[in-house]
Amino acid sequence: MPKISPEDIVRRKQIEHTKITVLTAYDFPFARLVDQAGIDIVLVGDSVGMVCLGYESTTQVTMDEMMHHVKAARRAVKHALLVADMPYHSYTTASLTLKNAKRFTKSGGADAVKLEGGKKIKAQIKTLIDSGIPVMGHLGMLPQSVKAIGGYKVQGRKKGEADQMMEDALLLEKLGAFSIVLECVPLALTKKMSRVLKIPTIGIGAGPYADGQVLVLHDLLGIRSTPKPLRFARAYAHLEEEIIQAVREYREDVLTGKFPTFDESFE
Ligand code: KIV
Repeated sequence: MPKISPEDIVRRKQIEHTKITVLTAYDFPFARLVDQAGIDIVLVGDSVGMVCLGYESTTQVTMDEMMHHVKAARRAVKHALLVADMPYHSYTTASLTLKNAKRFTKSGGADAVKLEGGKKIKAQIKTLIDSGIPVMGHLGMLPQSVKAIGGYKVQGRKKGEADQMMEDALLLEKLGAFSIVLECVPLALTKKMSRVLKIPTIGIGAGPYADGQVLVLHDLLGIRSTPKPLRFARAYAHLEEEIIQAVREYREDVLTGKFPTFDESFE
């Protein structure tokens, strides 16, 4: 299978009219499986902080931690577009943004980076795109700003908020972003933005009108990533129960001498 490029992602909306599939993955085995299953974009999200590192929020994740996971995913992903999420405080100025994004793309091997925000980070996004680094935007509920917005809440319900989000989205498109994640956005606003924008919208908690969908892999697999699963985080498997059951069986077999057998041993 050929490798997917940012241009392919845009073409999917503009010419092929097919939905875009995105999942997070943070390590070699899961990135390999997601890639093999034919997902278009593998996102090494800063959600890794809550899903894999046990942090309370994504704001604690560092560049070094992200690099560790981006490199692991890079070794596995052969077909999908690999996007690295820029962690909190890694894109406060245009020069810092460029330095960190180059780390992701040059030594990490990422194909693109994702940043949260619109007008406020215009200079950072422009610098990246002018330097040839493909950018995925992220609007709506921004997990890195969760304290400032007063919790994990739907964004864009008020007219002023919705207008600002649309303005930010059009700015990202004008600057050259190849897609925009819309997180926790009302259905009607997602519909309007997806109609108006030429680049694809990728929804999470933004309803069916987005041009693509993204989920956190562990939510999809039924491995709890947050204390209370959000309504949009549909579980397609229930691995948490299966894993606990498998580990219990192994423990029981060791305690009762059923594991290992002589067939599982060497003369
Ligand atoms: O970090 C992440 O996993 C994300 C997705 C939820 C879009 O930003």
